[in-house]
Amino acid sequence: MHLWTLLGGLSALGLLTHASEIEPMNFNVTSALEDLGVDVSSIPALKSFNGIQARSAEKACAAACSGLSFLYKSQVSGQNSAGYSNFTDSFWSVQQEEVQPHCVFRPTKNTEVSTAVLLSRLTGCEFAARSGGHAAFTGASSSPGGISIWFKDMNEVTLNEDKSVASIGPGNNWLSVYSALEPYGLATVGGRASSIGVGGFVLGGGISYHSNLYGWACDNVESFEVVAASGLILTVSESSHSDLYWALRGGGNNFGLVTKYNLYTIPAPKMYGGARTFLQTSFKSVINAFINVANNASVDPHAQQYVAFLQVNGTNLASAELTYTKDDSDPQIFKQFRSIPAVSDTASSKTLVEYVKYLETDNPFHLREVYWPIAVELDEAFANWVTQTFYSMISQVEGVAGIQPVIIYQAITDLILEKMSRFGGNALGLDKADGPVLLMHISTWWSDEADDEKVYAFVNSFWEKVIAQAKSVGVYNEYIYMNYASMFQDPIAGYGEANKAKLKSIAKKYDPRGVYQTLQPGYFKLEGAPVTGSF
Ligand SMILES: Cc1cc2nc3c(=O)[nH]c(=O)nc-3n(C[C@H](O)[C@H](O)[C@H](O)COP(=O)(O)OP(=O)(O)OC[C@H]3O[C@@H](n4cnc5c(N)ncnc54)[C@H](O)[C@@H]3O)c2cc1C
Ligand SMILES: *[C@@H]1O[C@H](CO)[C@@H](O)[C@H](O)[C@H]1NC(C)=O
Ligand SMILES: *[C@@H]1O[C@H](CO)[C@@H](O)[C@H](O)[C@H]1NC(C)=O
Ligand SMILES: *[C@@H]1O[C@H](CO)[C@@H](O)[C@H](O)[C@H]1NC(C)=O
Ligand SMILES: *[C@@H]1O[C@H](CO)[C@@H](O)[C@H](O)[C@H]1NC(C)=O
Repeated sequence: MHLWTLLGGLSALGLLTHASEIEPMNFNVTSALEDLGVDVSSIPALKSFNGIQARSAEKACAAACSGLSFLYKSQVSGQNSAGYSNFTDSFWSVQQEEVQPHCVFRPTKNTEVSTAVLLSRLTGCEFAARSGGHAAFTGASSSPGGISIWFKDMNEVTLNEDKSVASIGPGNNWLSVYSALEPYGLATVGGRASSIGVGGFVLGGGISYHSNLYGWACDNVESFEVVAASGLILTVSESSHSDLYWALRGGGNNFGLVTKYNLYTIPAPKMYGGARTFLQTSFKSVINAFINVANNASVDPHAQQYVAFLQVNGTNLASAELTYTKDDSDPQIFKQFRSIPAVSDTASSKTLVEYVKYLETDNPFHLREVYWPIAVELDEAFANWVTQTFYSMISQVEGVAGIQPVIIYQAITDLILEKMSRFGGNALGLDKADGPVLLMHISTWWSDEADDEKVYAFVNSFWEKVIAQAKSVGVYNEYIYMNYASMFQDPIAGYGEANKAKLKSIAKKYDPRGVYQTLQPGYFKLEGAPVTGSF
């Protein structure tokens, strides 16, 4: 093909002209740092890195971390310091706590995030970014040997003039967001447990108590403020960089670091709910009730539910978390559930703040963890089969110290799927024609690293069996929920070929050198699962 034809074609696609505005072909990291007021030649540790890649990761990161320390002394913590252990000790899973970054950097504003990304580019030192730190596997939000950017201190929550939009820094978790908005009688569509971060949650989807009313969190974003790979700070909305806006709603950490989440506010009325727990003799009725509530979402969108199947001291139990976004103890939609005899029921009136604190207690820190989801059609017979199969297979991990396998069912209802077309749609690739969708995930914790392989192999073999059956009865949906995905899964591929290709072309436009793919290698990249395990 003639060069001009090629360039013309790219230009017609909007790739060439726009891309060069974001990051020109002759982009110069050193001068981009100068534009941010950072003169590399004045920083002792960085002088020798001017334009050169370090020969070892250790040297690269020593230089990058020294550079950050020179610029932002009190915001950088090296190994064996209190700031460092505060960071490593406060992840949800042990797998993430074990990661040893070269240094931890706590930016206080967006331009400092730009500087960190550019110093990574200058030196070749890898980085990772952490909001709430709830992603469970190694390297997802902390960089082994690299720079771990901790958003902790970018924790503002402010309202615009008419209070329709809350501007939320990525250092917030949902407790801090809801607590800041509660005095105004407001909330946002956000997480259901207090310590989940805003950062990862919104970029992967975000299932809320309010999702039948408003959709997932990613479908309630007015705009994002994003640090592109060039350090440029972009405001990204339906009308500005709309392609990137689409990509960020499901695309995870592949496109930039988000320094502000501007989320539409919603009213925060008093709620009612809790966990109603049933014995195995009622499982069939529980699944029937679950399916009915999911199918009845449009009759009453105030209801939200998930059902967890587990075994406690040898007794099989189903625990249904039934939440209502009004203070009503006996809404029609939950009557069927409430007619099934229960061994316990914790339902009570709660504010949203109280609700997320209450749910937090079910999810202790400092354990080895895996979350691992699949998706199928909402099909009652299939759900019953999966439940039976789960209980028939958990003996495979009997004897693993501290193991607590759970399988959880949630519905992606027709209402939620409809809301996914708001604001030009999102990247998740979920089609209303395939709905409602049954999202199932295994969640388990255990104690010893020596058992990791055994646990992963169990979950893998369980899902292999379930997926084979789902395909044979025609209910399989290739969608993988990123926020629950294990390191062996590839959620981007699960969004479908067309969406994957679109995400890749958007990444090429905003990050032509693939900085967010290679220098930030953790979590779910555009090409393939983080770990390709053999079991
Ligand atoms: C106990 C528990 C309860 C949960 N409850 C729910 C629930 O109710 N609904 C639901 O949908 N999900 C839920 N999840 C899943 C949750 O959404 C994911 O774990 C999510 O990734 C958490 O986000 P985080 O910011 O805490 O994680 P982090 O580990 O900090 O981040 C996850 C990924 O996002 C990236 N990231 C974080 N911030 C930014 C940013 N500002 N810019 C760019 N990339 C960023 C990180 O680099 C990392 O790769 C729950 C998980 C747990 C463990
Ligand atoms: C990049 O910019 C710096 C600072 O402006 C300059 O000294 C250097 O020569 C530039 N490098 C290239 C390859 O143009
Ligand atoms: C570590 O965390 C504690 C408790 O949150 C805090 O008081 C302390 O200042 C932190 N130390 C550093 C060095 O960040
Ligand atoms: C709605 O729920 C009722 C019982 O609670 C049930 O009889 C009905 O079938 C449900 N509707 C759908 C569409 O599932
Ligand atoms: C399970 O058994 C242990 C040990 O006997 C006991 O301490 C614990 O309270 C039991 N848990 C429940 C939920 O009954």
